[in-house]
Amino acid sequence: MPYKINPSVKEIPRYIPGKSKEEIAEEYGLKIEDIIKLASNENPLGPPPLAIKALTESIWEVATYPEEDAGELRSEIARYLGLKKENIIAGNGSDEILDLVTKIFLEKGDQAIIPVPTFSMYASLVKIYSGQPIFVQLDKNFNFNTEKIVESISEKTKLIFICSPNNPTGTKIPDEGLLRILEEDVIVILDEAYVEFSDISNIDKIKEYENLIVCRTFSKAFGLAGLRVGYGVAPKQIIDLMLRIKTPFSVNLLAQKAAIASLKDKKHLENTIRLIKEQRKFLISNLSKIPKIKVYPSYGNFVLVDVKETGKNSKKVADALLKRGIIIRDCSSFYGMDDHHIRVSIGKPEENKKFLEALKEVIST
Ligand SMILES: Cc1ncc(COP(=O)(O)O)c(C=O)c1O
Repeated sequence: MPYKINPSVKEIPRYIPGKSKEEIAEEYGLKIEDIIKLASNENPLGPPPLAIKALTESIWEVATYPEEDAGELRSEIARYLGLKKENIIAGNGSDEILDLVTKIFLEKGDQAIIPVPTFSMYASLVKIYSGQPIFVQLDKNFNFNTEKIVESISEKTKLIFICSPNNPTGTKIPDEGLLRILEEDVIVILDEAYVEFSDISNIDKIKEYENLIVCRTFSKAFGLAGLRVGYGVAPKQIIDLMLRIKTPFSVNLLAQKAAIASLKDKKHLENTIRLIKEQRKFLISNLSKIPKIKVYPSYGNFVLVDVKETGKNSKKVADALLKRGIIIRDCSSFYGMDDHHIRVSIGKPEENKKFLEALKEVIST
């Protein structure tokens, strides 16, 4: 190549999202309307009606720039959380928040601790910014091992990523474990992308701990994944740094309007949480009745399933489900995961029933 590139970039694999319905329809000769996507932990109820109304009404405003720092949205998030606007930043998905934090705190050669298996973006970001990810394995039931995390801290450690509830395992860090980690002199990023489905949040801890940054998203419980809005919650001095280096206008005008409206659509949020909790119970109870299948408890809008005893690996099971028009996530690509776990997003009742029937068929053939 006639040009030099940053060597750490060479090692970074491309982010692989779940396949879309359109891709599967073409690959397997299926009708789009017959395909069920339970692969990206999206909201089965779709976007909030108040957000749709706001989008329709604001469409004519797109010739103008949005508020640079999404000020009104930050105020509404602050109201929703009972915190101050100065503690909130909005981003282009929580991915942007994670990116900003890594950019601010990680220098070349620094280390970041990542309990695995988990969301792959953390390790990618650490590598992009020339840092070194230090992976700490969750225990055999995918619970967090706080002592191991604390023991892995060295002079080079600048960041610790904690995803709770954790994607793809559905487990969460116990409060005492998190508090123990926060006692250390290291920035802790607590990713609460799935917190609305779990009842317990640690967002209020930002008032006590100067080293805590919480990130959240409108992509899951709020049903706005396609618009790309997330937010970070942190002590004011950290938010000020993030606002300084953020790409201006990164949350677009329609995304800001829809996110504000979605915070006001309490009914949609309640319906979503109720559906996920009911269907999570249904799915876990029915999966646990299938011989040779192990299902784990989950605090997210997805469940992790171990298919080892069926004699098939996760790729075989995922491919066989795909042929039947059901898209789920083969977890073998998660660092620190083996080759016999699949993750299934919780869908509408009829989708979950179809998945259960298809899974029974797949493992018995
Ligand atoms: C744990 C976790 N954090 C962050 C994200 C990214 O969310 P967003 O759509 O807000 O960028 C995801 C997406 O799946 C996720 O699972």
